[in-house]
Amino acid sequence: MFTLQVVASLTVALASYHKAVAAPAPPDPCAAIAGKLFALPADVLACEKSFPFNETLRQNVLTTVSRVFDFYTFENWYLDSPAPFQESTNNIRANLTRINTTQYEASTHYDFNIDLYDFTTQLNDGHTRWFTNCYTNWQNILPAPFINVDINGTQGVYIAPDSVDFINLIGTSYTDLLEDMGFDWQRLSGARITGIEGQDPYDYADFVADTVSGNYLDHGVRVNSVFSSYRISGTDFSQRLGDLAGPTGVKQTSLEVKLVVANSTTEETVTIPFIASFLGVAFTDQASYWENNCAANSDTNGMDLRSSGLTRRLNETPRRRLAKGNIIDKSNDSAIGLPPQFLPTAPQVDGSEDVIKNFILPDNITGVMFVGSFEPDDFDQFQADTVAAISAFQSAGVSRLLIDLTNNGGGFVCLGQFLFQYLAGSNIGYPGFVSTNRANLLAQKIVAADIALGNDDTITFYSADNWAFLNDTEMSASYDYIDPSLPFTVNAVNEPTSQRFHDTCQLSFTQTIPEDPPFPTEHALTTDRKSGNCASTCAMFSTLMNERLQTKIAVFGGKPGENVEFKGMAGNQVLEWADIDTEIKTAGLKDDPLAPPDLLVSGDFRHNWRTAWSWLNESIPIAFLSELPKLRFPFTLETYNNPQNLWVYA
Ligand SMILES: *[C@@H]1O[C@H](CO)[C@@H](O)[C@H](O)[C@H]1NC(C)=O
Ligand SMILES: *[C@@H]1O[C@H](CO)[C@@H](O)[C@H](O)[C@H]1NC(C)=O
Ligand SMILES: *[C@@H]1O[C@H](CO)[C@@H](O)[C@H](O)[C@H]1NC(C)=O
Ligand SMILES: *[C@@H]1O[C@H](CO)[C@@H](O)[C@H](O)[C@H]1NC(C)=O
Ligand SMILES: *[C@@H]1O[C@H](CO)[C@@H](O)[C@H](O)[C@H]1NC(C)=O
Ligand SMILES: *[C@@H]1O[C@H](CO)[C@@H](O)[C@H](O)[C@H]1NC(C)=O
Ligand SMILES: *[C@@H]1O[C@H](CO)[C@@H](O)[C@H](O)[C@H]1NC(C)=O
Ligand SMILES: *[C@@H]1O[C@H](CO)[C@@H](O)[C@H](O)[C@H]1NC(C)=O
Ligand SMILES: *[C@@H]1O[C@H](CO)[C@@H](O)[C@H](O)[C@H]1NC(C)=O
Repeated sequence: MFTLQVVASLTVALASYHKAVAAPAPPDPCAAIAGKLFALPADVLACEKSFPFNETLRQNVLTTVSRVFDFYTFENWYLDSPAPFQESTNNIRANLTRINTTQYEASTHYDFNIDLYDFTTQLNDGHTRWFTNCYTNWQNILPAPFINVDINGTQGVYIAPDSVDFINLIGTSYTDLLEDMGFDWQRLSGARITGIEGQDPYDYADFVADTVSGNYLDHGVRVNSVFSSYRISGTDFSQRLGDLAGPTGVKQTSLEVKLVVANSTTEETVTIPFIASFLGVAFTDQASYWENNCAANSDTNGMDLRSSGLTRRLNETPRRRLAKGNIIDKSNDSAIGLPPQFLPTAPQVDGSEDVIKNFILPDNITGVMFVGSFEPDDFDQFQADTVAAISAFQSAGVSRLLIDLTNNGGGFVCLGQFLFQYLAGSNIGYPGFVSTNRANLLAQKIVAADIALGNDDTITFYSADNWAFLNDTEMSASYDYIDPSLPFTVNAVNEPTSQRFHDTCQLSFTQTIPEDPPFPTEHALTTDRKSGNCASTCAMFSTLMNERLQTKIAVFGGKPGENVEFKGMAGNQVLEWADIDTEIKTAGLKDDPLAPPDLLVSGDFRHNWRTAWSWLNESIPIAFLSELPKLRFPFTLETYNNPQNLWVYA
């Protein structure tokens, strides 16, 4: 901390020296960090806080946000969020009014943005969040990734013993800054943590889970997301820092930790410095920071696809727009590899080039599919990879299947349904959930306008030909499924929905589905270790495995004595701000008084647009139904970052 301040004031001193001898320009706090991949948090904050509060921008952002909330399927569920999710209870409209009327400090626009960011993050719905690129394009990184492991029968919090190999992978531009400060971070590797910021380490993990993590409705899942873990990022094995050592955005400059270093018995207090990593668009000074990272750009808002859609239809085979259910994990942008000694050594089999990695364990009878995401580079290749993997397992005589969904943030709704259908066999019938969207007045106008304009599923998500009736007959684009609406009441609020419908994913399946399951389905053990980070489409997949096949599901990690759900964020289809804006513009309704205005800043207010109703109780969205895993294991030093050890153990 001390060294941090010295370096920070040195920068300022140099800047003012320049000022004294050169032009009388005011110091530019953004120029001080321009062109750097890594910068000190205090310097980043000085730049971020240098833009004055602007009422026009507050009104613009809040009008868009509050009109998008009209489409949010769970708004009224939050008024009294059912147990065990009561922690997320939130009066969304009251909070919007509060943020609209708060007197923020005039000198900075930062406070308003962070207030809005924290409020949406704390809804704990990864589908429904405000990302303002001006302030979320930095990740704060502590050279001390924390883990929660069982050692000799006792669970505790430690600094990951692989932290030296892992942190070195961030690169010398990061570690050199630590060296300049004279901070010896290597000696902390494997240290036992006895306190963080004056609290018990697990209490502090709870605090981070409640205020920083977001994304997952279940508290236990968020606690897992606080700690470091393995994952697939892009198409490679990677290690996630965790929300304690690698939060999105810059708030803290350091963390005060009480610890006992490896092979010692002496407790000491160490102030560990954060260093911020820049994930945005390059800039040279304050004006270009705003222009390139904060002001709206050509991708911020939606577009009318009636014109561009026509070109697309002339040039290529019309293909429906593909529904997505995913979370945004900004920490993924600075993806760091998994240290090579933890890569699986078991033979990899076919179908492993993209987001699925397939292995046969040394027992020769267990096949592992590590499904890292449902958002591959190639939609059809994911299906081909699934078939290739299952065929390879079968020809190798594998008799049971383990699916690892660790840190799978979701992706294409129809790939979740494809994988489920392939494993369950076509005889099971419809491979998805009964679904609805919200029948607000603007939604009803959009569907009516799409019908009048002849818009269909090649350019809209609202048109009925995206869906099927409950008997799986596809609806025609001219069918109005949202007016009249279906009555529904939640928390004593009238909450009409569209008619109930099915997805039409089978139309996008490009592989032949076997009639019967290729493996006994009760043996498909899905280890959603970060069930947590098994979000969205991934949570829909694991919920189908649980509700329809009673597959054994195991969750690793979690706080001792607290439950962990196996599904993280189980919404359904998510629409980014640009997506819902495109729906409105393509329906010719941008001038409607209910329509949200174009954003003036670079940001995304995404929302959960459809509900998935549970097969176990069709009055409750799967998001709000508690379904616990059949098995629960703590991590150990052998398994926390070593996928193969974890699979063998499972
Ligand atoms: C506030 O932001 C708007 C939109 O970017 C801009 O036109 C206006 O000049 C800003 N107001 C002030 C006082 O800077
Ligand atoms: C914020 O409050 C003002 C004053 O009551 C009101 O005019 C404005 O419409 C509100 N803005 C939003 C986005 O609700
Ligand atoms: C507003 O949101 C915060 C979380 O950011 C929550 O703690 C608070 O309870 C909410 N307020 C109301 C009135 O629901
Ligand atoms: C765990 O137990 C082994 C064997 O009793 C012992 O050598 C080791 O020091 C213990 N480790 C810790 C962290 O307590
Ligand atoms: C993680 O990054 C990869 C590669 O950039 C991207 O394809 C994927 O969608 C990202 N996942 C999340 C959850 O943000
Ligand atoms: C702690 O002691 C063990 C056994 O002597 C040794 O293998 C390990 O490298 C030591 N760890 C550290 C951080 O010194
Ligand atoms: C698994 O197969 C390999 C290669 O055929 C063989 O060397 C090994 O002994 C087998 N392992 C078991 C547990 O049967
Ligand atoms: C499916 O249901 C719809 C709506 O109830 C009905 O119009 C259609 O005829 C049914 N299709 C079949 C094949 O039964
Ligand atoms: C189904 O869920 C609804 C809404 O939470 C609840 O009122 C009802 O009791 C549940 N029904 C059963 C059979 O569990």
